[in-house]
Amino acid sequence: MTQNPGKLLVDNKAIDLPMKEGTIGPSVVDIGKMYAQTGLFTYDPGFTSTASCESKITYIDGDEGVLLYRGYPIEQLAEHGDFLESCYLLLYGELPTKAQKAEFDYTVTRHTMVHEQMARFFAGFRRDAHPMAVMTGCVGALSAFYHDSTDISDPNQRMVASIRLISKMPTLAAMAYKYTIGQPFVYPKNDLDFTSNFLRMCFAVPCEEYKVNPVLSRALDRIFILHADHEQNASTSTVRLAGSSGANPFACIAAGIACLWGPAHGGANEAALKMLAEIGTVDRIPEYVARAKDKNDPFRLMGFGHRVYKNYDPRAKIMQKTCHEVLSEMGIKDDPLLDVAVELERIALSDEYFIEKKLYPNVDFYSGITLKALGFPVSMFTVLFAVARTVGWISQWKEMIEDPGQRIGRPRQLYTGYAARDYGPISER
Ligand code: SDX
Repeated sequence: MTQNPGKLLVDNKAIDLPMKEGTIGPSVVDIGKMYAQTGLFTYDPGFTSTASCESKITYIDGDEGVLLYRGYPIEQLAEHGDFLESCYLLLYGELPTKAQKAEFDYTVTRHTMVHEQMARFFAGFRRDAHPMAVMTGCVGALSAFYHDSTDISDPNQRMVASIRLISKMPTLAAMAYKYTIGQPFVYPKNDLDFTSNFLRMCFAVPCEEYKVNPVLSRALDRIFILHADHEQNASTSTVRLAGSSGANPFACIAAGIACLWGPAHGGANEAALKMLAEIGTVDRIPEYVARAKDKNDPFRLMGFGHRVYKNYDPRAKIMQKTCHEVLSEMGIKDDPLLDVAVELERIALSDEYFIEKKLYPNVDFYSGITLKALGFPVSMFTVLFAVARTVGWISQWKEMIEDPGQRIGRPRQLYTGYAARDYGPISER
């Protein structure tokens, strides 16, 4: 939908900038022709005011703390559905019927095995390799095994690649974990649901039967729903940019995993738990809050703040509730890390600095405590985020590839380096 154009006056010359209105949320000024008309670029290094694309998948209202997947509030999806239902919704745009859900579950389940030679990749890594390094390598390598689903111009191959990535991420993630602890890989079992299968591949050993705890499986499944997609965040934008060159989907998702690893992004769940452990006790919180506020100290409260949410991250509220559920199911009555997290949140949310800068706990603040209680080592936290976010990445990739107006992404720059200068012989330098 196009609104009345905006105007830009450059050297007393006015140009029209077409406006576009979305269904909900901010309208956009289309600057696509601005450089041709004015010789000027826009400048927005952190993309704080830039819409990189048009999308129908996920909507965030940062001021209201709203998150919708294809229009459905995250609270309702997390409460009533399972992760594969949200995967179907993100991929196809509608909630599945009973028959569609059964077929989707069947299909995903039967793609969970990886090529047997993938197992040899792991032997090339040190046992103490960070699992995110292993995932970046192995997911990129998938394109070496699945040539029959790398032709992105073929809708069927795009869908096969999407299903393969959603299905095989948990298997590779479990293999990455098993490899670090020196235990044998556990094959998926087709009679288990997505998340129960993942828990069993992570925690079962050949010496005894592994019984999935349904309360824990439901909790982790809900955590996957919370992490499934989040509009044009850094890793999704990475996947879109990689995909805009025509790179195959496995390579694009590997690029997304690499970006997610950063502590400012998906790596924050690992960093937040390490921060809580470093603080250690409630009485040391004021010292760290002071450091977070000190401009000269690079320390930040990990799990706090967000580029878009200037209110409570709706996922953090559900995560906090899930955290208490898991701790109680695990019989953990008194977790010192939780005590520190709850008190840190209370202090931060009443502190003028955090109020003024609208810094609230984000999805990563409570996830670490929950994942640790589920039995995962800190190094696996961001891997779990990647397992969940794969459906968001691949849905956004698919939407971009299927956009008839899609072009390679190629930003410009503000150049502040040397103007042209002549080469001089080394003897004169
Ligand atoms: C995720 O984009 C997404 O949607 C991401 C994500 C997803 O689902 O994909 O939601 C997942 O990545 C969540 C965010 C996880 N990261 C962290 O928890 C790391 C800690 N948070 C910050 O590094 C920061 O808040 C960011 C990176 C999340 C957001 O950075 P912005 O939007 O660039 O904000 P900023 O760095 O410009 O900060 C604004 C101000 C600054 O102060 P001033 O320079 O204005 O004086 O707030 C301060 C910052 O110093 N600030 C913090 C802070 N976060 C911001 N001060 C202390 N502690 C913090 N955590």
